[in-house]
Amino acid sequence: MGTSVITGAFGYTGRSIAERLLERGETVRTITNSLNRPNPFGERVKAERLAFDDPDALARSLDGADVLYNTYWVRFNHRLFTFEQAVANTRALFKAAGRAGVGRIVHVSILHADEADDLGYYRGKHALEDALRECGVAHAIVRPGVLFGRFDILVNNIAWTLRHLPIFGVFGDGRYRLRPLHVDDMAELMIAKADERANSVTDAVGPEGFAYRELVETLAEIIGARRRVVSVPPLLGLGVAKLINPVVQDVIITREEIAGLMRGLLDSDQPATGKVRLTEWALERRGELGVKYASEVGRRVQRDVAYVGVR
Ligand SMILES: NC(=O)c1ccc[n+]([C@@H]2O[C@H](COP(=O)([O-])OP(=O)(O)OC[C@H]3O[C@@H](n4cnc5c(N)ncnc54)[C@H](OP(=O)(O)O)[C@@H]3O)[C@@H](O)[C@H]2O)c1
Repeated sequence: MGTSVITGAFGYTGRSIAERLLERGETVRTITNSLNRPNPFGERVKAERLAFDDPDALARSLDGADVLYNTYWVRFNHRLFTFEQAVANTRALFKAAGRAGVGRIVHVSILHADEADDLGYYRGKHALEDALRECGVAHAIVRPGVLFGRFDILVNNIAWTLRHLPIFGVFGDGRYRLRPLHVDDMAELMIAKADERANSVTDAVGPEGFAYRELVETLAEIIGARRRVVSVPPLLGLGVAKLINPVVQDVIITREEIAGLMRGLLDSDQPATGKVRLTEWALERRGELGVKYASEVGRRVQRDVAYVGVR
């Protein structure tokens, strides 16, 4: 049985990975930016700080690891964090993994990471895929587009909007597509990739694909919030989201996320790598989905509380 280090095992994807590795009897440690977040694993998962500012400490935190599962990234530029910092921090992490003799890195990227350098999120993910290839450690790159599951943000907050606003505005024609993957399927895939030897890049996509408008209408039907779904110019949709941001104390969506979505960058023509169907998952949680807003900024600011959201 091996030793794995996971970034952010008290969070979203990292937590699902940790659960599965512990079930397999592996030794699991986490490195995190939120040392004071409740540890759902107790003594079974030891936590250390993600010491990006201290290369020696960062390398020590990876000592003895066969695999590093890297989920660390930031979703947007904010006064508290930026893509640029996240790129520099992740480079430091890869370097530390090399120094510590980590056997393999399983790294989370994004679908089409190398196809949209004009968008900061994609430019950063692209640079990190290149940095990983150059760092000399065996690796697997896993590229999801949208994840859903326990502590989900996107699907939950579409449902929240449907529940709380009289009409739902989709950006443009809403025909661009996406392939959501369940977070537990993502974790399974990452663990399978840790067991392989070759370097690889894999699209991480679910069994169902939706046009964005269709996804909104499907969720509306599932939660029983039949709303008029209207096309709005992307800038108007962004403007409305910005008006709601202070109410939910979050950044609901960014200009870049809208651009990525509308260019079809959350879609892939590759075979499904997961089994859980979003429609079935949502149906099982129809009374809960979207009742409470799930805040990205809240998770970043309140570093000593567990993630809130759908179970
Ligand atoms: N969620 C999705 O729908 C989705 C879609 C496509 C790609 N991805 C990718 O999947 C990976 C995992 O994402 P996730 O949604 O599972 O996220 P997550 O668990 O909330 O966060 C993953 C890690 O990043 C850290 N982190 C996130 N935002 C941060 C910030 N602003 N400042 C400092 N640290 C931050 C977390 O810190 P703590 O250690 O403090 O918990 C944790 O270590 C990321 O690379 C993301 O780009 C996610």
